[in-house]
Amino acid sequence: MKKLIIIHGPNLNLLGKREPEVYGTTTFEEYFSHLKTKFKDVQLAYFQSNIEGELIDKIQEVGFSYDGIILNAAAYTHTSVGLGDAVKAISTPVVEVHISNTFKREDFRHISYISAGAKGVILGFGLSSYDLAIQSFMPA
Ligand code: DQA
Repeated sequence: MKKLIIIHGPNLNLLGKREPEVYGTTTFEEYFSHLKTKFKDVQLAYFQSNIEGELIDKIQEVGFSYDGIILNAAAYTHTSVGLGDAVKAISTPVVEVHISNTFKREDFRHISYISAGAKGVILGFGLSSYDLAIQSFMPA
């Protein structure tokens, strides 16, 4: 069974309440149970932190044993050399995910410190971006 983890950065604990016109009204807990039901053949874990160093610690912890990391580093995507370096330092492939199409938004969201180390990037499909990211780890 594939071992995947979704890692969420700052403010994503507020999904469902936070800027619903951008991020929707579903909480991630609700969406996570949908994902677990849909992908029964995957061992799916979830971690969220608002703290940059905790995200780096988690990436290092899982980054040599898991089959994949689905990373939405949220605002740290656009600022964190440390998270970008962590993604490059590990052997587990990372798929970068964003709920919104960051290229349709402010200029500062057009830069990602994660993408250069990622296997691929999925963005703009709302919460379905996570379904697509999990799918990307499945055999064709
Ligand atoms: C986000 C986009 C980021 O620019 C923003 O800071 C977030 C969420 C997204 O999923 O669309 O917090 O990563």
